[in-house]
Parts: sequence; structure tokens; C-alpha cells
Amino acid sequence: MYNKVTVEDLQVKGKKVLVRCDFNVPLDENGNITDDTRIVGAMPTIEYLVNNGAKVILCSHMGKPKGEPVPELSLAPVAKALSEKLGKEVVFAADDNVVGERAKAAVQEMNDGDVVLLQNTRYRKEETKNVDEFSKELASLADMFVNDAFGTAHRAHCSNVGVTQYLKPAAAGYLIQKEIEFLGNAVNNPVRPLVAILGGSKVSSKISVIENLLKKVDKLIIGGGMAYTFFAAQGKTTGNSLLEEDYIDYAKKMLDEAGDKLLLPVDTVVANDFSNDAESKVVEGDIPDGWEGLDIGPKTVKLYQDALADAKTVVWNGPMGVFEMPNFAKGTNAIAQTLADIDATTVIGGGDSVAAVNQAGLASKMSHISTGGGASMEFLEGKDLPGIVALTDK
Ligand code: 3PG
Repeated sequence: MYNKVTVEDLQVKGKKVLVRCDFNVPLDENGNITDDTRIVGAMPTIEYLVNNGAKVILCSHMGKPKGEPVPELSLAPVAKALSEKLGKEVVFAADDNVVGERAKAAVQEMNDGDVVLLQNTRYRKEETKNVDEFSKELASLADMFVNDAFGTAHRAHCSNVGVTQYLKPAAAGYLIQKEIEFLGNAVNNPVRPLVAILGGSKVSSKISVIENLLKKVDKLIIGGGMAYTFFAAQGKTTGNSLLEEDYIDYAKKMLDEAGDKLLLPVDTVVANDFSNDAESKVVEGDIPDGWEGLDIGPKTVKLYQDALADAKTVVWNGPMGVFEMPNFAKGTNAIAQTLADIDATTVIGGGDSVAAVNQAGLASKMSHISTGGGASMEFLEGKDLPGIVALTDK
């Protein structure tokens, strides 16, 4: 596990602190932020630095502007949201060069406790290639560095990794610490029994997660579209369901290795079309021709609820069915409700399962909802995250 210098180890009063956040938040067509979870997640670090008299220089990427200014991917809406949350102005350095004359001037004018937000770091083509020149430019603005961008920790870019060569110490913010604590303890030091729930459409995208988690969990629950490749491995027919033929042998191997640790659906809600209004029914075993599996069935819900009843730690990544369609959301919602009800540490590991928990209105009942998509996935795969590795060791 990581043992990194944290923001509280720094003497920040009067110092310029560059803080890498993940403000890569979804925007609607009018540029309004539709989910501010990542901004909320960064607030403890920002508030701590403001309250302790630092000059706080925030930076982040947004989307993939591919090394040039893209006005729709400006961080201006984030500056506005931050100002509202902080209750004080966050000055937006609208500098297409990110660290150009405007940004330098904005930093120059800062008083202790002030906050400046730089423009989207990916406006610069060097950023995603981790080119030294841009790392040095970013570092030249500040005295020390704090990384709180857990969602970007699986990338090795200038603003989270390169900059640590030139700004020391490089410390972990509160969000990164919290993510490491919950995800790390859940996977590497769990109170047992530890149950992992994996769903989503593809086995191929979850292979490393399955392999890593199988070594660590007491039970591994499988749902979602990826279950049908396991069905095929068991010799069942899968109708029109999602199937990755190239991974059937892999699924067979997993089944052999996992034994009764691995739980698969025993019944399936199938539909005659991929639409909410399709005709549907529950089948056990084979999925008939012309039908596709879109959710786990009621017996599977019961089986999984029983498996979760005595769990003390649960990690969930990926929905149990097509939860975006209300008629096929029952399995996913039931699992979310079960996690809300049981007496366990519940960690929701990014992506669609976060959306599912939010849709079910149960987010506040979970112990931790990760702000990382790809980052939490790589964490669950057991990989080192470069954005965290690069921080100064204690
Ligand atoms: C994310 O949304 O997962 C992070 O912000 C990383 O974004 P990226 O996949 O564009 O690097």
C-alpha cells in the first residue's frame, strides 16, 4: 500500500500550492455541469489549503481537446461552480496556453487564501505525452504540489506525474487518501467475508479485475452482459444475448479455477428486443433463440442477497442488467438496495455502478463511491497508479 506525504504534512502558509484535481465533469449542451461529484470530492483539500493561508492554484483536464483550445471544453463552468461552493471567488485564468502570460499574471496577484483555476491542461499537446517542458512550466508557478485527482491517477501526464520531478514535496490530497483507504483496504486488507460484484457488458474488459479479485475475495458475484459468456462456457445456449465467443475458453478456465467462489445467475430476464417495451419473461438455464438476457432474474437476486447477507466488505463494479431501461433495472436496483441494507463496508468502484446507485437514490447509503472510472478499475486490477506512485514517500 502507498505511504505518501499528505497535504497536512506541508507548511502551506503563504506558499503557492499547485493542486491537480480531476474536474473532468459531464456538461450538457449548454455547458452546465450535470454531475458535480468530482468537484464536491475535491473541496476538502481546497478548503484546507484556503483556510491555512496557501495561495491555491488549481489545474485539471476536461475531456479530450487533443492539444488545442476547444471552447466547449473550457474549465470556465468549473470555476463558477467552485466559487459558489467555496463562497469566495475562484479566479479563472482563461489562458489558452494554460501557463501563459494571463495565468502568470493571475498567480502574481494572489494573496494568501486566494484561489486561481488554470485552463484545461489538455489544451497543451505536451500534457498527455508527459513532455518535460510543460511540466516545468506548470511547476514554475508554484512552491509545492498536491495531487487530488484520483480519477486521473492511472495516467502519467505532465500535470500529475511530470510536475512531481520539479515540485517537491508532492503530496496526496484528501480525496486521493480517501480513495486509497477505501479501495485499498477493501481489496488488500478487508474485514471478511469480502464479496466482489462484477457486472457490465464485457468479460474482455474485466479479465484482469476478475483474475486479481479471485485471489482475494471470499465470493465473486457475476451479473450483466458478461454473464452470458460464462453461460456459454457452461454449455448453455445464449440466444441473442451479448456473447464474446473469443472469451468462452477463458470463462471455462475461470469457472474451473474459481469453484464455488464464483456465483453466476440461475435465472435471467430475457426480452425479444433490446428495448424497454420489448416482450419479456424469466427463464432458467438456456436462453431460447430470438431472446436476449437483459437482467438477472428473481431467483438470482435472492441467491445474491443470501451471498451478501453476512458480507463485511463489498466491492461493486458494473451493473447487473440494462439498468438504464426501467423494465430491466430491477436486478441492479435490488443489489443496490441490498448493499444499502447490510452491515458492511460498501465500496462502489466507478463507472456505471455509480450511475446505478445514484439512479436508485442510494448513494448516501454506501460507505464510499469512487470518483475514478478507469483509475478505480486499474486499482481493482492490482496495478500501480502512476499518479500516486509519483508522490513523495513519507
Ligand atoms: C476519467 O474521466 O476517467 C478521468 O478524468 C480520466 O479521463 P481520461 O480517460 O480522458 O484520461
